[in-house]
Amino acid sequence: MQDKIAKILREIEDFQIHDKQTFELFKRNFTSKKGIISSLFEELKTLDNNQKAIFGKSINELKKIAEQKEKLFAEQYNSNYTAHNFDLTRIAKSQFWGSRHPIQITLHRIINIFKEMGFQVAEGPEIEDDWHNFTALNFPENHPARDMQDTFFLENPQYLLRTHTSSVQVRLMESHLLPIRAIMPGRVYRNEEITARSHCFFHQVEGLVIDKNVSYADLKQTLESFVKKLFGEETKIRLRASYFPFTEISAEVDVTCFLCGGKGCSVCKHSGWVEILGCGMVDPNVLKNCNIDTEIYSGYAFGLGIERITMLIHKISDIRIMDQNDIRFLSQFQHFSLF
Ligand code: DAH
Repeated sequence: MQDKIAKILREIEDFQIHDKQTFELFKRNFTSKKGIISSLFEELKTLDNNQKAIFGKSINELKKIAEQKEKLFAEQYNSNYTAHNFDLTRIAKSQFWGSRHPIQITLHRIINIFKEMGFQVAEGPEIEDDWHNFTALNFPENHPARDMQDTFFLENPQYLLRTHTSSVQVRLMESHLLPIRAIMPGRVYRNEEITARSHCFFHQVEGLVIDKNVSYADLKQTLESFVKKLFGEETKIRLRASYFPFTEISAEVDVTCFLCGGKGCSVCKHSGWVEILGCGMVDPNVLKNCNIDTEIYSGYAFGLGIERITMLIHKISDIRIMDQNDIRFLSQFQHFSLF
């Protein structure tokens, strides 16, 4: 019996299946009810209990091997599986995969535009210390400029939730080899009342360039290219003098309203212009705080709010809808791809 089983095993292994006929022949010979393995089980019945136990096991093994081989070729040669059973022209059932959050859509568009202009992407911690968020950025202690940004302090008031991504500028300047050409996206926090136009947390993208001979014209040129890519070629910018402790000179940037093209509408409050970011030349005090030689290096910085830009682009009038997980709102962004 043992020899017989070994011989059949070899036959199963050697059997070449290469078309439908040989596949059918294999089944007939080995795995069908009239096949050789079934007949072995019949033969087993005639043996005594001892032998039944020994050979039963071997025949079961044999059966398993044959069935595995059959299964391997079934998809190819079994008539139940052939292509004519499928309607290849049938349209696939559509699936709802969810959609990108509008903030992520805007963020990725902005990141990609700056990447194309040779900027790297850096990140920093949301829990910051006073040095990185304020002091190094030229906010003197007890200076009223600190009140520009209502701050969430931790129990130890040396630590806080960063009020802006400008803190990452300091971290980069302290640790990065010069020159620097980077953007820093991230979430920021302000201890403000939540209303339709302001929230206690939102997102910013910071930009920083430190190099030899960096000028205000470079800043203007970079921002102009960025704005044209984001809002369209016909968009113009204007820089208005402003104040930030960490830049000197400082400016706020307006763009021609991309909804009315500058003619005046409700989004631009009939002025033809909308404000989108703050910027300036990095104050030499900031460079000194980060041990950068101001005789050799200069730089510019800018910061923009993602929620604000997203709201302008999609005409969203209430910032609070952004974090309410309302599927009716979110599903409207399904057709926006990330890139
Ligand atoms: N950090 C400022 C804010 O949150 C935005 C800003 C303005 C960033 C000017 C800059 C800048 O880098 O140069 O209001």
